[in-house]
Amino acid sequence: MDIKISPSILGANFCNLEKDIKTLEEGGIKAIHIDVMDGNFVPNIAFGPDQIKMLRKISNTLEFDVHLMVANPEIFIDSLVEAGADTITVHVETCTHLYKTIHTIKSFGIKAGIALNPATPIETVKHVREMVNKVLVMTVEPGFGGQAFIPGMKEKIRELNELKLSNGLDLEIQVDGGINLENISNVIELGCTDIVVGSAMFENGDVCETLRQFNSKIS
Ligand code: DX5
Ligand code: ZN
Repeated sequence: MDIKISPSILGANFCNLEKDIKTLEEGGIKAIHIDVMDGNFVPNIAFGPDQIKMLRKISNTLEFDVHLMVANPEIFIDSLVEAGADTITVHVETCTHLYKTIHTIKSFGIKAGIALNPATPIETVKHVREMVNKVLVMTVEPGFGGQAFIPGMKEKIRELNELKLSNGLDLEIQVDGGINLENISNVIELGCTDIVVGSAMFENGDVCETLRQFNSKIS
């Protein structure tokens, strides 16, 4: 499976968003990660269907990888699909009827992912593993960019990769939180195939050069 970098636009400078998204596309990025937060499941608010629809005017070809950090994900699925989401990832901690929620996402012909908070064990994955396209391992507590990677999550990624390999699953393992130029190679070695990068991609303001450095880590 190819390694993919998914820049998280939560970390972007919104004043430069259009320019930076174009720079990312020119640098070979195929997907951007869009965090949706409701101030309930997480103590922060970010992006909704209206903003995602506007982003679609900037790019019609980028994969929109939508990470739902909301208390009731089911109520947003329709509008996010309509806004242009290509993948919707829900937190298992928020879904009483996880099987049904995944089924609903897939019924729109888009990809479905499940996300696990740092303290959520990987056992949940076992029962829906054939249905999902992606498992997102949170390596920080969700809600904010710029936090430090939790070292204990390395073991979780390794275990998840073992589950994937021993069952021959066609599963993307995505990592989200605290990824930078120093630790990206390590999470790839552990089995991650989709790497979300927020603040480390945008914070120094030179997205073109920073992306070149990240690309050199995956080639
Ligand atoms: C945090 C979000 C992340 C965030 C990552 O809850 O899910 O996608 O943007 O930012 P960094 O890479 O700065 O940890
Ligand atoms: Zn995210």
